[in-house]
Amino acid sequence: MRILGPDVGSQACGEEGAGRMLDPNDIAAAVSDPDFAGAVANGPLAGKTVLITAGPTREPIDPVRYITNRSSGKMGYAIAAAAHALGARVTLVSGPVVLEEPRGVEVYKVETADEMYAVTHEQIASADIFIAAAAVSDYRPANRADQKIKKTNDTMSMELVRSPDILASVAALDDAPFTVGFAAETENVREYALGKLVNKNLDMIVANRVGADCGFDYDDNAAEVLWSGGEKAFDKMPKSELAAGLMDLIAARFFATRGAETQPALSIVSIKE
Ligand code: PMT
Repeated sequence: MRILGPDVGSQACGEEGAGRMLDPNDIAAAVSDPDFAGAVANGPLAGKTVLITAGPTREPIDPVRYITNRSSGKMGYAIAAAAHALGARVTLVSGPVVLEEPRGVEVYKVETADEMYAVTHEQIASADIFIAAAAVSDYRPANRADQKIKKTNDTMSMELVRSPDILASVAALDDAPFTVGFAAETENVREYALGKLVNKNLDMIVANRVGADCGFDYDDNAAEVLWSGGEKAFDKMPKSELAAGLMDLIAARFFATRGAETQPALSIVSIKE
């Protein structure tokens, strides 16, 4: 059995949010696409839920300005599509990006690190695997001006405060899912990534060098994946291919470490064409 929806948007009761019936055309498309239905029913992650963060966050300074970074969301969206192709139920918490939503994936749009933290924690209880591919702003303005700030002085300074660390907070939960972080670094990539793996108590970390010709916003990326007792390097390739390789590895490590305790009680019945 596969549940489609609910859709998100304005509802008959006047509220906004998740709860709408999917557009009938989307339902028809989902059930009549054999690849889609077959993959969902038979993939290795069928019956599992993967929660992914993607894209940048925007931290408002005033009504017209914000702090952000160069993340396009391409890596996180590609991982969402790859997880879906393995049969997982996928929830994507996305910062502001201009990408098409991956098919079959439940997407929650957020702007700030605080919003991404809140939605992630609303969804985390049902997640078997959490993958933090978002480039969350580490700091945000301590105060947001209600009106546009006028340029009255030659210099100006702004107090910044730390944003909540979503990844560390998930890994610290008593019943934390299999937790995968990313490390975006411009130097000492492996060393810094290892530090994050240990300090944030992660199951895995995906280290990527950002800057030169891959990482942020590019269509290609390369990565070194590290976990306790193992590692695997991925050469530079399109993000969709890298995402497929990463998801295979994440699924394998997930079952190697958590398989016995999280095997679904119900067997999944394949959808016949
Ligand atoms: O979006 P693209 O243009 O495709 O680019 C992809 C990417 C470079 C953004 C992606 O591959 C990547 O590396 N994402 C993580 C970027 C990042 O913020 O790395 P970090 O080293 O600063 O953070 C380490 C980890 O902590 C990350 O998993 C991050 O999601 C998480 N984090 C960081 C800060 C914070 N407040 N909360 C978090 O959850």
